[in-house]
Amino acid sequence: MSRRRPITPDVHLNLNVRGLKQSATLAINERSAQLLHEGRKVYRLGLGQSPFPVPQPVVDELKANAHQKDYLPVRGLRGLREAVASYLERVQGLDRTGQDVLVGPGSKELMFILQLVYYGDLVIPTPSWVSYAPQAQIIGRQIRWVPTRPENDWRLMPAELDRLCASDPGRPRIVILNYPANPTGDSYTVEELRDLARIARQYRVILVSDEIYGELHHRGQHVSIARYYPEGTIVSGGLSKWCGAGGWRLGTFAFPSSLRWLLEAMATVASETFTSTSAPIQYAAIRAFQGDMEIQQYLGQARRILRHLGRHVWRELRKAGASVSEPVGGFYLFPDFGPLREKLAVRGIRDSPGLCERLLEETGVATLPGVEFGRPSDELTLRLAYVDFDGGRALVAAQQTPLEKELDRDFLELYCPNVVHAMDAVRRWLAT
Ligand SMILES: Cc1ncc(COP(=O)(O)O)c(C=O)c1O
Repeated sequence: MSRRRPITPDVHLNLNVRGLKQSATLAINERSAQLLHEGRKVYRLGLGQSPFPVPQPVVDELKANAHQKDYLPVRGLRGLREAVASYLERVQGLDRTGQDVLVGPGSKELMFILQLVYYGDLVIPTPSWVSYAPQAQIIGRQIRWVPTRPENDWRLMPAELDRLCASDPGRPRIVILNYPANPTGDSYTVEELRDLARIARQYRVILVSDEIYGELHHRGQHVSIARYYPEGTIVSGGLSKWCGAGGWRLGTFAFPSSLRWLLEAMATVASETFTSTSAPIQYAAIRAFQGDMEIQQYLGQARRILRHLGRHVWRELRKAGASVSEPVGGFYLFPDFGPLREKLAVRGIRDSPGLCERLLEETGVATLPGVEFGRPSDELTLRLAYVDFDGGRALVAAQQTPLEKELDRDFLELYCPNVVHAMDAVRRWLAT
């Protein structure tokens, strides 16, 4: 008797999703895991995750609220919405109330829902964080990449935004500005923020200010563009980076009251999709946004470690011949190995995926190729996340080191050895 093949449904994927790859980060992680399995040393500079533990008072609050089991209001717990509004008022002087805040399971999810409910183009600079463009593609929105230049450290220049908007002034648009930035670690000057705000106001765009790394400005000097374009700016934030709680999945959007209609539309979609964000996490988040001395000290030391380590990595990359700017916030750098193009071509390396792959295979240093951030693939840019260290141990050691003292190479070698050794390996690899 012949065995009949079971009849299964045909593959009819949403055409916006068909052909879309899983994120590059996952591919790098899988290859890194494979190399580790083979007994090779791998330096994990690919995944952008905070190396630091969640501050103790926030962990304690989560423990105390483990029993919270009810569904919460779709917009978020009232106390948390108020805590987020007071936090924005305290640190940025913004005039937002609890009613203006929407809480979600990560700011990424909120960005997706925003793009779904608003009808307009997505405008982002190149390079930009890996997920903005695929989200637009999934929803079926047009993506407008705005060019930037390495000599401006890849920042979106007001004139470029003006040029794009002037081509069709009345067109609805969402512009996303992320600073301190992933992938570059750079941020904007107050003058640039004012100029960008002026253009955004002129064309009445919805501006999403992605400030997920705001508290990780290395000198604690983050300034929000919402100060200069309050009526059109949504401030995006959450616990994932400064609080080291990416896996807790909590993000926040703070709207101006003039955009309440957007918040309401997003809340409707949220009510039919994720319902509400995890209850214990929301209670714990209140503590994080209220802040206190202990959390301030934690942040002060985290910034200090990132500042010194970022500077070390930046110097090493420059010595190796890359063109790269010193990071001012977050934990990323975006070196361009273009100056070494001829030397790399001799080894058959001509584009960023090739560079990333060979670096991983030959030195064990995992990074992400610039093409994933919207750069041309034949450019030799990479994103490095200098996070492969035990943040808890480094925090304790930094606390015991007087503030006026530099966290020098000896400190970094002791407490962030993988990052330091990864840089040694990159330099050796490029020198041969
Ligand atoms: C620039 C940027 N925005 C947003 C996110 C998403 O953060 P969340 O964990 O809140 O979804 C990330 C996370 O990597 C990010 O790098």
